[in-house]
Amino acid sequence: MAQIFDFDQSATTTIDEFCKEVGHINLDNENEIAALAPELNKLANNQAWMEDFILCGLTEPEIFQADNIYSAQSYMLKAINERAFLRFAIWAPKIFDDNLGEDNFYSYQTAHNHDFSLLTAGYLGEGYSTSLFEIPDHQNVIGYPGEDIDLHFLDQVTLSPRRVILYEAGKDIHIQHEPQSLSVSLNLVVAQPQMDIRQLYYDIDSKKVAGFVANEDIKRGIFFRFSAAMQSQACQNSLNEIALSHGCELTRLYAFKAMAEGSSCTEHLKEMMAADPSKIVKSSIHELNNGVRELSVWG
Ligand SMILES: [Fe+2]
Repeated sequence: MAQIFDFDQSATTTIDEFCKEVGHINLDNENEIAALAPELNKLANNQAWMEDFILCGLTEPEIFQADNIYSAQSYMLKAINERAFLRFAIWAPKIFDDNLGEDNFYSYQTAHNHDFSLLTAGYLGEGYSTSLFEIPDHQNVIGYPGEDIDLHFLDQVTLSPRRVILYEAGKDIHIQHEPQSLSVSLNLVVAQPQMDIRQLYYDIDSKKVAGFVANEDIKRGIFFRFSAAMQSQACQNSLNEIALSHGCELTRLYAFKAMAEGSSCTEHLKEMMAADPSKIVKSSIHELNNGVRELSVWG
């Protein structure tokens, strides 16, 4: 389960001092990341850097955060090394109706895991609340949409000021709920590429994998679907080549799905998928029966 730390200290530290501490630990080890919780709390106690950051953005708004690949909800504070960085995230109460997709913008209401370790501190406001879930260690998750998952609810907690939470890479599953008031969390993000984690959404009611969290592979897949809709033989040939030989299993899966979109008979595609070395591809054959148009945007 996510580790929760509560502090009652007034000591502060600076971004540079905190980053120095990060440089001293083994980033593969979640316990060593957890041991940084008191230091992250100290950085959250320091209110000065936020004002500096905002003033910087107001001084040169044209270039501010120009290389931020995240949404306007999330801001890069400092790259620490090739695997770790500091950012903060804004969590606001929703103010529009559902048509504007605020749940999507803030990543509210969707159960998900992370493919990175996340040490996060409450910085401002009462904080978002989060429902925590776990999957028993013995369950070997393949990770395809529709897969049954033995998902257990553990607790609901709030990322309040003075609190730090560690979500372990891959392991912890949670839902973020909108806070009552504008809140900010301060995040240490540590990439864990050696763990080869697939980020997934989960349907907690049906206890199934709901879909893949968007990444470059998924973007590619949506483009494949568009190309299949062109009804071109040349496009179909290229998709066939990708489905047979691309090194990324999700890329092959989406090529199969796209080809199914443009085909009246999917039996041959199902045979090809059954012969694919990936368990995710093999386990997704049933999706061709439903037709790509019926799949969720995440599937
Ligand atoms: Fe999350």
